[in-house]
Amino acid sequence: MISDTVVIFDTTLRDGEQSPGAAMSISEKIEIAHQLAKLKVDIIEAGFPVSSPAQFEATRLCAEQVEGPVICGLARAQAGDIEAAGKALQAAKKRRIHTFIATSPIHMEYKLRKKPDEVVKMAVEAVKLAKTFTDDVEFSPEDACRSEIPFLIEVLTAVVEAGATTLNIPDTVGYVLPYEYGQIIKRLREGVKNIDKAVISTHCHNDLGMAVGNSLAGVRNGARQVECTVNGLGERAGNAAMEEIVMAIHTRPDFFENVKTNIKTTEIYRASQLVSQITGFVIQPNKAIVGANAFAHESGIHVDGILKQRQTYEIMTPETIGLSGSRMVLGRHSGRAGFSDRCVSMGYKLSKEELQAAYEKFLQIADKKKEVFDEDIAAIINDEIRAIEHVYGLEYLHVACGTGTLPTASVKIRKGEDIKLAAAFGDGPVDAAYEAIREATGLSPAIENYSIRAITGGKEAMGEATVRIKNGTRTYMGRGVSTDIIEASAKAYVDAINRMVSLESKDRLSEAKAEV
Ligand code: KIV
Ligand code: ZN
Repeated sequence: MISDTVVIFDTTLRDGEQSPGAAMSISEKIEIAHQLAKLKVDIIEAGFPVSSPAQFEATRLCAEQVEGPVICGLARAQAGDIEAAGKALQAAKKRRIHTFIATSPIHMEYKLRKKPDEVVKMAVEAVKLAKTFTDDVEFSPEDACRSEIPFLIEVLTAVVEAGATTLNIPDTVGYVLPYEYGQIIKRLREGVKNIDKAVISTHCHNDLGMAVGNSLAGVRNGARQVECTVNGLGERAGNAAMEEIVMAIHTRPDFFENVKTNIKTTEIYRASQLVSQITGFVIQPNKAIVGANAFAHESGIHVDGILKQRQTYEIMTPETIGLSGSRMVLGRHSGRAGFSDRCVSMGYKLSKEELQAAYEKFLQIADKKKEVFDEDIAAIINDEIRAIEHVYGLEYLHVACGTGTLPTASVKIRKGEDIKLAAAFGDGPVDAAYEAIREATGLSPAIENYSIRAITGGKEAMGEATVRIKNGTRTYMGRGVSTDIIEASAKAYVDAINRMVSLESKDRLSEAKAEV
């Protein structure tokens, strides 16, 4: 009898972070991991410890500090990787090593340059070595969905024999369709010897937009672990979105008979916001479950139906994912206690100094806008209080533009005690401001992406700018919030530069420490 619980394996911190621009600092990862624990995910894949000192440290700190979920580290089927994962996970109360090797003909021939027999041997040795660190060992045949099924059955049978307790079936390149994925799971359940000793897991990428559909087809065919990420973050088109998987299972008990997850659904929205704020990946308004419009009804017929009977047009309630039905607003007169209460109820843990700084910023915003919404508060905290070190500060910005004039900008940028002034012109006011910032900082990372949106409604809405910059091969996101969109754009660029400088110096520091 297979279990009726679908284990949620969250890989936001590992596969999600492989998303271009989604690099997170170690402290940001720990903050997300704590929220994942509140959400009650069963397993957190905290990182790929051998890949960099920062990944090792993030996994180690998660293992040490995050209670509740099993903490997992990724490792190729190589001794060095497995030993690094074992070491990073030492402090965890519950730990798992996830080891993988590719099994598709194209990966074995061109990437690994190994014969199938050698791959089976490496997989078995990897699982046996991982077993010396923990009983909980997961094995993934990478690119499983383009592998030959008889070979997959051979490898998986061998790793179960060696002690693997979870068999993960990755659709690494997001190639298959739901019916096919379901059939692969079914054939493996039928073909792998002693399959009852292991849990079958799905791991689907979204290149064809099928990641969630494929994962659910896997569940229908007996998979009892789903690997997913918050907001579907992940390489290329991303991974299966955790919130969509969980809510599909939750909303359709008739289809997923007797199947449930352990997720505390009322923490979904908070987790989604936190990941979006930290990574700078804006959630599209029409994103299922967590998009701004997911529960918004506008057409007259729909609103009329909802008022008469909610279920006419609503298959789940916003409250289920942690969205409060009524939008409570704060204003200048709400006071420090009111502000502090709201921060706590939104899930923020702020120190006295952080609360004071956030409150002062809140008062400034409240002076400009009569009503301050939760989204504004989240923006204040994430924009002003977040832990990245602000090497550069935007002290002053002046922009002149208009029809028939050349847009020009002057900025004052602080770096420690140093103040740099610069002026520049550009194609538009934002371009001019960016040129001036480049001039003042002496840094000129390429801009890969820029977007602006209104966070809240009304003519004094806060604008949020998001910028993705590239330095060498790495990309960084920056966010800026202001009631003035040019200022928000300039702040976003400075934020991205700070993130770049801070993450690169932290990585250098960790590398130096690791060498010592
Ligand atoms: O997509 C993939 O194949 C992976 C493996 C490491 C499981 O992320
Ligand atoms: Zn993956």
